[in-house]
Amino acid sequence: MTTPRRVTVTECPGGPLLIRGADEVVGIDGTAAPVERAVVALCRCGRSDRLPWCDDSHRDRRRRRTS
Ligand code: FES
Repeated sequence: MTTPRRVTVTECPGGPLLIRGADEVVGIDGTAAPVERAVVALCRCGRSDRLPWCDDSHRDRRRRRTS
């Protein structure tokens, strides 16, 4: 029996969820995206052009709110 892999999720205030240790991420449409990095960032704001991944578009939203 293999030891289960530990996956952690870290919330970034106003930004993405950082996922550590995952093999894949399954999107809302059921499509599985393979994870090839130790840490990936999942978009929570819905503005990314590369969903489900964060592309830093959430930063633009923050700037607009403060101006
Ligand atoms: S959380 Fe970064 S683009 Fe959505």
